[in-house]
Amino acid sequence: MRYNSMQQKLLALETSCDESAVAVMGMEGKKLVVIANRIASQVNEHAKWGGVVPEIASRKHLEALPFLLGEVLSESKLEMTDMDAVAATVAPGLAGALMIGSVTARTLASLYSLPFIGIHHLEGHLSSVLLGKNPPELPYLVLLVSGGHTELIRVSSDRNFIRLGRSHDDAAGEAFDKVARLLGLPYPGGPAIENLASKGDPKRFVLPKGRVSRPEGGYYPYDFSFSGLKTAMLRLVESLRANGHEIPRPDLAASFENIVAEVLVERSLRCAVEEKLKTLVMVGGVAANNRLREMMKQRAFEEGIDLYLAPKAFCTDNAAMIGAAALMRLEVTNRSSSIELGVSPRWPLAEADSFYQSPPPF
Ligand code: KG4
Ligand code: ZN
Repeated sequence: MRYNSMQQKLLALETSCDESAVAVMGMEGKKLVVIANRIASQVNEHAKWGGVVPEIASRKHLEALPFLLGEVLSESKLEMTDMDAVAATVAPGLAGALMIGSVTARTLASLYSLPFIGIHHLEGHLSSVLLGKNPPELPYLVLLVSGGHTELIRVSSDRNFIRLGRSHDDAAGEAFDKVARLLGLPYPGGPAIENLASKGDPKRFVLPKGRVSRPEGGYYPYDFSFSGLKTAMLRLVESLRANGHEIPRPDLAASFENIVAEVLVERSLRCAVEEKLKTLVMVGGVAANNRLREMMKQRAFEEGIDLYLAPKAFCTDNAAMIGAAALMRLEVTNRSSSIELGVSPRWPLAEADSFYQSPPPF
């Protein structure tokens, strides 16, 4: 029962997309502790459709949560009555999927008279880096690369989030998923491409870096565009096929993975240097990619930037990162949400403070 002595313990739920996840998190001094962490992936359910089906996601969350809750409580040897709060992702994501997690969390909070803490999914991803052995000190620049977002965010000393760069079309993870489908690989595409790419030549094909033009001329230096790259891959495969060539899938996968990593690394480091931020953080599902991690380490070292990578286990969606964000809100700002806070499929990260205001924004 050693976890009982911790200052704060909370239960966290994540159901924004296709992973049902529940965690018990604790705080020991200033250190975040993952007490128990479970994920029920729905990947196999969605794989046969080539992407996430919202109705299936909601139903599977509903089936998985009671089971996962039982598991984390038994592993942590804690009861609901030992908790100090209940947290859940409330935005952004699939509305029905978010609602399952939010209603479950709010029901538990009401039953056990605990504060409820609604968390922005991206704040969760940003907090995943705090689960590493040696968390970074504010302020820093974050490259957030997931299936839904590719953004450069400055986190200021007072924990404000300011977006400095973004993708104008597909997110990097979405590009991995679409190119995987083109190469006949299963969903989710990131791990499948990474696996195939390890056997390929990353320099074989020259691919576009997707610059975003400014109306007044020149380019947005910290913005991204991946839809042109996806089309270039399609044209390449079509022309190889038309000329009767065998499709060199490993070389295509490696060249694609390499150009995505180069673009992410170049623009992130340029942004950090020009914005005079000495620390760079990388989080999100795509941040699990080894080529990207290694390239970022190498170039950050050359530029004299301190790099902090989210631990691989906490890059893709999980509830520990949601619990970490909730403990920070509770500990640093002493914030909780109205039990009437609902869910929102879209909501800017810069306005996540409104989740703790009364009346709630949605
Ligand atoms: O953060 P995440 O779990 O969910 C969102 O919030 O979007 O990210 C999922 C995305 C998917 O697009 C998946 O293909 C990509 O992350 N991903 C990867 C890798 N693992 C997951 N992309 C590249 N390499 C990986 N190893
Ligand atoms: Zn995510």
